Amino acid sequence: MSMDKADTATIIDGNKIAAEIRVEAKQEVDELLKQGIEPCLAVVLVGNNPASRAYVGSKVRACEETGVRSVKIELELEATEQELLDEVEQLNQDPDVHGILVQLPLPHHMDEERVIEHIDPAKDVDGFHPENVGKLSIGIDCLTPCTPSGIPELITRSGIHMSGKHAVVIGRSNIVGKPMMNILVQKGDRANCTVTCCHSGTDHLANYTRQADILIAAIGVPEFLTADMVKEGATVIDVGINRVEDLEHSRGYRLVGDVDFDDVKDVAGAITPVPGGVGPMTVAMLMKNTAKAARMIHKLS
Ligand code: GUN
Repeated sequence: MSMDKADTATIIDGNKIAAEIRVEAKQEVDELLKQGIEPCLAVVLVGNNPASRAYVGSKVRACEETGVRSVKIELELEATEQELLDEVEQLNQDPDVHGILVQLPLPHHMDEERVIEHIDPAKDVDGFHPENVGKLSIGIDCLTPCTPSGIPELITRSGIHMSGKHAVVIGRSNIVGKPMMNILVQKGDRANCTVTCCHSGTDHLANYTRQADILIAAIGVPEFLTADMVKEGATVIDVGINRVEDLEHSRGYRLVGDVDFDDVKDVAGAITPVPGGVGPMTVAMLMKNTAKAARMIHKLS
């Protein structure tokens, strides 16, 4: 990898690395099938948010490719929280279901925390249940959130070492920022970082981001991170998926990340694109988590 400012960054190919991980997940699924266990993921979608619908579609397609059985449950936007809890309870009780994923965000009349807490932690392939959040934070093996779990894979499989590096996470969501910090701070080759978390309350943000060897943007603001905020040679991971209006596209929008890619690529040592970076990894890690949940439920190592 070049550290010369005149060169542009190595582009980290999330599609390629996600394909490798899906092959590994398929091998894990094949092992389970040999033992008479058919891993099954239930995906629950409430309402008709187009982005959520697209994500659920890609999760179901990944199941087909990996040999995981999938069950898709769709509830109307007007469904009550109790109806959703009842669906989750049925899935909790179903011995043929190993993973349960309720696509977020939920409609405003539903309490996301209450719904997440209702999912059996053993089937919580999102790693959002407080039991799994707690286990991750104290370093007990558990189901961990898919998006942040994919990021050390992207970095280390690109030949970049993590141990001892300063990782700066921008964002403190329960889905990405907070679990990302807990993953990065663990002991082990794919972590062992010094971790700083910045967020919307951070004063002088660039003072922190410019110290990052590994800079992870999970902000939700299109093209927020610019070259002046990045140390030369840093590894920049863009978790953002933002739809911005673009009438030249047939869909009427295009996808951009939280990083101003064209600006930052001339300073960074390595960078993930959007699309084709973090996004495909989330779905690949979900397949790994589903196989892991099935193994844990059946007490296989
Ligand atoms: N919405 C955005 N990201 C995620 C995710 O990783 N899991 C679920 N369930 N919902 C999401």
